[in-house]
Amino acid sequence: MSIFTLRPISVFSNGSQRDRLAPVRHVGASADYSSLRRTRRHLRIFRDVFYGQQELARERSRNYKSGRVRHGKTHHSKHHSPSKTPSKLQPFHKSNNTVQQPGMIAKPTATMMRAVQLKAAGPASNLRVVDLPIPVPKEDQVLIRVKSFGINRSEILTRQFGRAPVGPVQLPRVLGVEATGLVEAAPGHEQAFPKGAIAMTAVGGMGLVFDGGYAQYVCVSKDNVLLVDQSAAKLGWDVLGALPEMLQTAHGSLFRCLKLKAGDTLLIRGGTTSVGLAAAAIAKDSGARVIATTRRSDSETKRILLENGADEVIVDDGKALRERVLRIHPSGVDKVLDLVGGSSLPDSLSCLADEGVCCFTGLVGGSAAVADFNPLAMIQTGKYLTAYGERFFNASNFPLNDLVGRMVEGTLKIRLGKVFHMNDIAEAHEYVERNESIGKVVVMTGM
Ligand SMILES: NC(=O)c1ccc[n+]([C@@H]2O[C@H](COP(=O)([O-])OP(=O)(O)OC[C@H]3O[C@@H](n4cnc5c(N)ncnc54)[C@H](OP(=O)(O)O)[C@@H]3O)[C@@H](O)[C@H]2O)c1
Repeated sequence: MSIFTLRPISVFSNGSQRDRLAPVRHVGASADYSSLRRTRRHLRIFRDVFYGQQELARERSRNYKSGRVRHGKTHHSKHHSPSKTPSKLQPFHKSNNTVQQPGMIAKPTATMMRAVQLKAAGPASNLRVVDLPIPVPKEDQVLIRVKSFGINRSEILTRQFGRAPVGPVQLPRVLGVEATGLVEAAPGHEQAFPKGAIAMTAVGGMGLVFDGGYAQYVCVSKDNVLLVDQSAAKLGWDVLGALPEMLQTAHGSLFRCLKLKAGDTLLIRGGTTSVGLAAAAIAKDSGARVIATTRRSDSETKRILLENGADEVIVDDGKALRERVLRIHPSGVDKVLDLVGGSSLPDSLSCLADEGVCCFTGLVGGSAAVADFNPLAMIQTGKYLTAYGERFFNASNFPLNDLVGRMVEGTLKIRLGKVFHMNDIAEAHEYVERNESIGKVVVMTGM
């Protein structure tokens, strides 16, 4: 049954009038709903193509075909409801610092781009999609055309309080401590960074001391850019956008800090965090035995953890884990990756076996501070406490290509969370804040 008919309408884009197709009629109350849903999917893909978001359209098409709807799907806010499609086809007035029309991510002009700017700390609605000049790379810098970026807890903190874990952030600022995309320019270093190569970047001050990855372009030091083999393209920009900060943090914590080796028993506190899930997958792939914790007691969460690298799951009910860990491993665990923070650290240390190491990496529990910290009592002889916090993103301490290669081969599987449009950045932040995700939340820029 035909549900929609399409007729051309005219909209303004960059001052010129163009024909678009818009659904105008919903036929009959006894609609065939599966066909209605199919038609809506086609309309979304269709709309993306018409807005120049071919990559997003291909992504949607792939997701729908592969049935990857539940966990890897592009999320639609109420603004993106298909029934509201005609209302999104509003004239788009381009000017500097214009707030983005819902549902529209325009292609940049030669000198301007869309970016998410924070002018004042506060709620997620303070994040505004604006027009900004495309940054111009100096020598030793790389300009990246950003395809996608992950949402990080530190960015939530910056948005809420105008500060990062390392100190205050001067506003206005384009947030984003990481980005994934294609090399656009690298003056003086074109051979090392050829135009069109897949590039990832993270940390090094981006989104904190200079404008970051929540944008269609970002300009960073070449020393903080890693190129990824072109074969990675088949993972899709949503998956690639999830990787830089998450993989670097998981890998760095496991191997630089914990010196993880095959046969080790690893306890991950905060097992459902994106870093925890990536760490579990990498550790399992490296021959470790993984125990993951979550506060959720439902069987679905347990299943997800077991499917993503955990051998055992412990529900963290806020009470000490030591007894339960020792019941499974009487001599304690070799390594602990603590992503919950100061509140769980003393208990994490108490779970260690002799010569065991605990790495403090995250603070989803809200604070890094350990109440009444007493190293003599808490760390104990022959046990070790370390912390992970990387300021650089480079190949000398992080085998990004190896990890991505294993993902391309399918030997390393890392779970992705929800995918949002850059227009829905506020919703993406709120979603992360609500702790609903199990996996990295990614935002597509529409480039
Ligand atoms: N050191 C570094 O260089 C570095 C780099 C990146 C990230 N990090 C840190 O690593 C941590 C994880 O980041 P992420 O992006 O992977 O997190 P995430 O995916 O946003 O974590 C979400 C999960 O955190 C858990 N959680 C939330 N509040 C909690 C609480 N009060 N107690 C225990 N668990 C809680 C929830 O799991 P359940 O509901 O299942 O318990 C939730 O599903 C963050 O603190 C982040 O700042 C550090």
